[in-house]
Amino acid sequence: MGMQIAPSILTADFARLADEAAAVSNADWLHVDVMDNHFVPNLTLGAPVVASLAKATDLPLDCHLMIEDADRWAPGYVEAGARSVTFHIEACKAPVRTAREIRAKGARASMALKPATPIEPYEDLLGELDMVLIMTVEPGFGGQKFLDLCLPKIRRTRELVAKHGLDVWIQIDGGVSAETIERCAEAGADMFVAGSAVYDANDPNAMVDKLRAMAEAAASSS
Ligand code: DX5
Ligand code: ZN
Repeated sequence: MGMQIAPSILTADFARLADEAAAVSNADWLHVDVMDNHFVPNLTLGAPVVASLAKATDLPLDCHLMIEDADRWAPGYVEAGARSVTFHIEACKAPVRTAREIRAKGARASMALKPATPIEPYEDLLGELDMVLIMTVEPGFGGQKFLDLCLPKIRRTRELVAKHGLDVWIQIDGGVSAETIERCAEAGADMFVAGSAVYDANDPNAMVDKLRAMAEAAASSS
């Protein structure tokens, strides 16, 4: 699998979600940020909107749950049509059970880490996961500045995945743009969420292609 781009609809027009999904048809995934106003100080959408969106686009949905009580709610997002479901480890009491439930229902299981959460305590969990999401901003809002302090964690996560011989994707979310994507790809990331960089661009599809090409070039030269 090469470098993948997942535009985040957080920066899109929520009254025109089907059109906004169509505007990024060159993307590999559509990233859907679910926020509950408790885990993060912002509120977006829930499973009914995910179910409608899944019917309105051919892009696979990558649901990023920024919600408390992730164990309880995560499996419902697979039922709503998500092909990948990410729970925050900070909001999860039984990550092994939750990851297994997500997989059993037929989606990819993913664990997200906020900027201050280390990967090392979760090394033994990697075999239960299809992806690790490393946040490069504090979750909650689009358009924030990329945190370079997260780069060493990307590198350490890639080393742990390689050490165990696993095929776990490493996703970066927050402040990804033409200015920052190369650093992430060099550090070992292979799946990139971009909200404002894509949706604020004049031609969102062209930006998707540009970001993917930059990531591919950076990864092959590192
Ligand atoms: C933030 C969300 C991101 C957000 C990224 O908490 O998880 O997916 O949409 O937006 P940008 O790319 O603008 O930083
Ligand atoms: Zn996100």
